[in-house]
Amino acid sequence: MGKFEVLDHPLIQHKLTIIRNKDCGTREFREVVNEIAELMVYEVCRDMPLEDIEVETPVATAVEKRLAGKKVVVVPILRAGLGMVDGVLELLPAAKVGHIGMYRDEETLQPHEYFVKMPDHLDKREMIIVDPMLATGGSAIAAVDALKKRGAKSIRFVCLVAAPEGVKALREAHPDIDVYAAALDDHLNENGYIVPGLGDAGDRLFGTK
Ligand code: PRP
Ligand code: URA
Repeated sequence: MGKFEVLDHPLIQHKLTIIRNKDCGTREFREVVNEIAELMVYEVCRDMPLEDIEVETPVATAVEKRLAGKKVVVVPILRAGLGMVDGVLELLPAAKVGHIGMYRDEETLQPHEYFVKMPDHLDKREMIIVDPMLATGGSAIAAVDALKKRGAKSIRFVCLVAAPEGVKALREAHPDIDVYAAALDDHLNENGYIVPGLGDAGDRLFGTK
């Protein structure tokens, strides 16, 4: 069974409180979402596989470690996942970026896939899906389905705010993946919004409504 971890470092909790505030504007919201993503990815990569490599230091030859295999892939679920990409790339600057376009029908809450563009050889890469919100879990489950269908074998899902309902659904549908959240909130309301949550992450990031 993959793990579920709440990454509640004090800096992450502090920054999450800033973006939960309904008076936090688009510019600050964007900045802080990326800052939280950057702090989270350090822990998310903790158990990434390493391989040996020979390196010439100015003093001697040594066998040291580097991240194993092909480049990591960061996969934002559009739109809101885009808000976390720059933060992740601060620590994984050579990562590839694959996109999954998904929107949630406001009536049925069912996810609809409208775009997928991935690099090659997903079976040989570590995949990190990013989306600020894990609500019913429908979008996350469909995103993992889309990656597995294309061969992905090692998948981590990273969100800022998770609802217990979404965590349960995602882990039941995909018990093999690791799930990370900055906070586990109380519940979903009748409209499928996370409570207390932070509202509609996509609208707050992009200044739409
Ligand atoms: C939001 C959010 C997730 C999804 C979570 O996206 O960014 O992708 O809802 O809800 P779920 O767990 O119930 O599927 P939304 O569909 O609002 O699209 P957007 O990112 O384009 O705003
Ligand atoms: N999507 C959001 O952006 N916010 C929620 O609370 C639930 C789904």
